[in-house]
Amino acid sequence: MSSFWSAWIIVLTLPVLIGCAVLLKWNLTNHVGVPEDQNTGHEVDGIEEINNPLPRWWTYMFVLTLVWSVYYLAAYPGLGNWKGFLGWTSSNQGVKSLEESRLAAEHARAEGLNVQLDREVVHAQEVYGPIFEQYAKRDVLDLAYDDEAIKIGQRLFLQNCALCHGSDARGQQGFPNLTDNDWLYGGSPDKIKETLLYGRKAAMPAWFDALGEQGIKEMTAYVLSLSGRTVNDRDAEAGKAKFALCAACHGADGKGSVAHNLPFGAPNLTDNIWLYGGSADTVAETLTKGRNGVMPAWKNVLGEDKVHILTAYVYRLSNPDKPDAQQ
Ligand code: HEC
Ligand code: HEC
Repeated sequence: MSSFWSAWIIVLTLPVLIGCAVLLKWNLTNHVGVPEDQNTGHEVDGIEEINNPLPRWWTYMFVLTLVWSVYYLAAYPGLGNWKGFLGWTSSNQGVKSLEESRLAAEHARAEGLNVQLDREVVHAQEVYGPIFEQYAKRDVLDLAYDDEAIKIGQRLFLQNCALCHGSDARGQQGFPNLTDNDWLYGGSPDKIKETLLYGRKAAMPAWFDALGEQGIKEMTAYVLSLSGRTVNDRDAEAGKAKFALCAACHGADGKGSVAHNLPFGAPNLTDNIWLYGGSADTVAETLTKGRNGVMPAWKNVLGEDKVHILTAYVYRLSNPDKPDAQQ
């Protein structure tokens, strides 16, 4: 409990409660000098004022509310250092890692306190941890066609990945579509898992200094011609002559890192599938400024067991049919 809320309760809540009690007491005393239910002697236009007492049900409700407030203040923290007889503490330290939550919960338990959030995180880990562990022992290719595992994988995906890759995993500009079997780093279970565990950092250099404006225009034409687009042939020829600059990562044929078993994550430029966009302007922008897509690492965030299940989920997205069933 922060001292602000503690002060709030002591300065505002307590006086108001006491004020209410005094007001009630005052109202229950007969100040009129006329016995209850008797005429007070006031009369306006034939309407007489009777000294009516407060209705009983109303009085009881009022008293009950006051009693409840006092009970509440005693039960929970708020009054200065008072921790409340229920032994609750507020956890206002913000979001914590699982490990921190576990430690905090242990610490709190040792002190005889129970911190609700921490308890729930640890509880979830205790309940679901073994389930994830069971799944983590199975092969990705097997899990990918286990509907229960895929359901869990989808939930994990929606919680952790949909933000960037979209809830349907079809991606958006700069965030790859994970359903099209077109890979920057490879679509085998091992490669997907490597991507998820350790993250990826793409390094597409900027070429403006090396190529100049005319060179960018020519290279753009050549890049577009690779996926069959109609371009200025003379520009494309000039671009092609310099494509050796690009071959180390995209391959001499432009088919990308995966096709040539290279680790760079350079996209296939011949398939008309674009990470950043396939308009001439966007390709020119890519070449001029370079691109540095970052896929975060999940090993320490989710743990290997969950990553294993997510690997199966991602694999399944591009391989909807079980391999056996295809043959
Ligand atoms: C902060 C945004 C972000 C989040 C969150 C994110 N990713 Fe990514 N992911 C990216 C980007 C950007 C890339 C492409 C990296 C590059 O440009 O080389 C990527 C690449 C990938 C790839 C490689 C695709 C390929 O073609 O090889 C996979 C697989 C992937 N993400 C899966 C996931 C999964 C599963 C999660 C959730 C655990 C996730 N991502 C969460 C941004 C994100
Ligand atoms: C050092 C390796 C490397 C070199 C050299 C390189 N690229 Fe790239 N390129 C990449 C990577 C990695 C990406 C993906 C960037 C990302 O994911 O953020 C990329 C992305 C691109 C894209 C965007 C494709 C899309 O789908 O949006 C184009 C176009 C491209 N490169 C063309 C070129 C051309 C043309 C050259 C030579 C002038 C070149 N690259 C040289 C690594 C390289």
